Amino acid sequence: VIAQDPPAKRFVANYDESKIPSYTLPDVLGGVSHAKDWPAKRAEWLDLLSREMFGRGPAAEAGGNITVANTAPEVEILGGKGFLRQTTLTIAEQPIEVAMFLPVKAKETAVPVFMGYNFGGNHTVFDHPAIKLPSGWMRKTDDHKAKESDRGANASRWAIERIVDAGFGLVTLYYGDVDPDYDDGFQNGVHAVLGPPKVDEAGSIATWAWALSRVVDVLETVDEVDANRIAVIGHSRLGKTSLWAGASDPRFALVISNNSGCGGAALSRRQYGETLWRINTSFPHWFCSNFTKYNNKEDTMPFDNHVLLALIAPRPLYVASAVEDRWADPKGEFLSCVHADPVYKLLGKEGLPTTSMPTVGNSVQGTIGYHVREGKHDVKDFDWQQYIQFAKRHLQP
Ligand code: GCU
Repeated sequence: VIAQDPPAKRFVANYDESKIPSYTLPDVLGGVSHAKDWPAKRAEWLDLLSREMFGRGPAAEAGGNITVANTAPEVEILGGKGFLRQTTLTIAEQPIEVAMFLPVKAKETAVPVFMGYNFGGNHTVFDHPAIKLPSGWMRKTDDHKAKESDRGANASRWAIERIVDAGFGLVTLYYGDVDPDYDDGFQNGVHAVLGPPKVDEAGSIATWAWALSRVVDVLETVDEVDANRIAVIGHSRLGKTSLWAGASDPRFALVISNNSGCGGAALSRRQYGETLWRINTSFPHWFCSNFTKYNNKEDTMPFDNHVLLALIAPRPLYVASAVEDRWADPKGEFLSCVHADPVYKLLGKEGLPTTSMPTVGNSVQGTIGYHVREGKHDVKDFDWQQYIQFAKRHLQP
């Protein structure tokens, strides 16, 4: 789209720290030195990131009335330690299947929950014959249809037993139910009803984030779930989504970014691994069109991703990287936390307890938590162990 874009085949990701351009980050505090002045500054940043990065909106009510139907009988899971409830929400005319894995004690007292999108359908998260298969477009299968044989296929990414044992629930849904993840000119999913976005309006990430907020609207009416203690979590593109959901909706009490990388936790100015040009070219539907003006011009951005993280303050935030996931720039993810920290401190919170990057496999946990684990781009049991520990401290199940 833009004349100065290098041809795709010439893109070589930089993985050399010595070749990172020198850069100056915009001051996240924007001159603010009193906590009382932060809400106004925060509102400015939120508006800026809305217009220039993720896209504004949609408005809360844009999808019309949400209908809720319990379309499947509740079943016991984990040998009676928990139960599974499935609810079909209709948002902007799209049927969206929500699966809730809850500990039995939720029948007596509302529990805090982790909540996040899955990549492959609810049936891939946990192997159980009662879990409904999505009926729409699937990203990962050859014919783009959901398959029985994929039940439990991504269970290693969802430590459901660990979550339930710790007294939390898990609420999950398939992101493609909201907006299928390909560049279709915004013809399908909720965009078919909301209409195609203008240059400063919500791309797919902001639209996925918006739908998470609509699910919170519904969770506020569910007796077993404590909607004041929702930890929003996402991996990779869905980690970018959880960050934006947490930034734009303060009802998320805690926010977790797992390997979110470029356009998520990582600093764009480092141009390490994936860059803005690369992401906006490969995935033109994720951000708003305005964001492309910073392709290869990162130093002209009036913000960087430490600002995205700071929008979550004073709420607890956990950012996780994986050492082999260089595409997502682990160090850039850590530095974003370091540079978001002044806002936490301003608001009287502990923030991030260190300024030097923890060694592999060591988690630091203040109001901001961070670790880099061994291995690849993925969500592992190690990640969940840290998230649960962090959530126990901040959300007290
Ligand atoms: C690609 C993309 C990343 C994204 C990842 C994912 O690698 O370049 O930005 O995070 O997909 O969602 O798995």
